[in-house]
Amino acid sequence: MSTLDQSFVTNGSWKPDLFKGKVVFVTGGAGTICRVQTEALVLLGANAVIIGRNVEKTEKAAAEIQQLRAGAKVIGIGGVDVRSVESIAKAVEVTVKELGRIDFVIAGAAGNFISDFNHLSSNAFKSVVSIDLLGSYNTAKATFQELRKTKGAYLFVSATLHYYGIPFQLHVGAAKAGVDALSNALAVELGPLGIRSNAIAPGLIEGTEGFARLAPPSEDGGNGLRDKIPLQKFGTSRDIAEATVYLFSPAASYVTGTIEVVDGGAWHIGSYMQDLYPSVVIAANEDPSAKI
Ligand code: COA
Repeated sequence: MSTLDQSFVTNGSWKPDLFKGKVVFVTGGAGTICRVQTEALVLLGANAVIIGRNVEKTEKAAAEIQQLRAGAKVIGIGGVDVRSVESIAKAVEVTVKELGRIDFVIAGAAGNFISDFNHLSSNAFKSVVSIDLLGSYNTAKATFQELRKTKGAYLFVSATLHYYGIPFQLHVGAAKAGVDALSNALAVELGPLGIRSNAIAPGLIEGTEGFARLAPPSEDGGNGLRDKIPLQKFGTSRDIAEATVYLFSPAASYVTGTIEVVDGGAWHIGSYMQDLYPSVVIAANEDPSAKI
């Protein structure tokens, strides 16, 4: 089911036809955050292609997003793994054939799990870096010639984990630090072609897999964690969608090479795992069943 509806247009901050005639290509578009980003762009006039590994989930999400606006075209292409640049290139071909162009790219596909260094195998590290970082590169690579024609924009979905070295997420933190560097370098290299590149760094966003993983249910209903966020609330997927609309809109036409942090100010406070540090790390390293 879609998160956004027509009220995003009628009572929202943006003009209804902001993205009329534009096409967005989204990896991970059936996942929580990237799906809502897509919904917002479609509601504001864009057509979209979302790609993902799971065929049924991706096609179902596309059909539901298409319902949001009369006349919208939203195509779901499943069976695409961002670790394969060829499989993304095929999805790009379909996009251009069916929708004519690509103006915006959201590189959002990501893989994650909680693991301390001691139990994180080399292959596990490689797996996450391959999805998050190499996958972002592959997405940029496969869509570049289309963005070049439209003088379009990239948006990479990053994170804030690597700002404070949160324990048990070093694989993701390393990958997302690379994503930030990739986006910044693309902004520099492709700026002269009229292509912009930015990243968005969500904080704790309610209703996501990442939230369930990093902020599991607690006795106080999460209040302790919430209190540590300067804005005193968790984020929503809509918060990420709003920032996405801004970054693709003409209002951000001079904005490139930035990392838009949407976390309620949380990272300035430091890791929310401070209370557990260093006991969790010591315990993880005491376990003799380390992996290679
Ligand atoms: N803890 C430690 N290692 C793990 C792990 C976990 N929870 N889950 C997977 N791994 C390791 C595997 O053991 C394997 O390493 P090994 O060969 O040394 O044993 C390696 O990671 C690759 O595992 P594999 O099952 O082949 O993963 P994959 O490459 O097909 O997919 C993920 C990797 C991250 C996508 C997969 O773990 C996953 O589906 N995660 C949950 C969904 C998700 O991440 N969604 C995105 C939300 S941000």
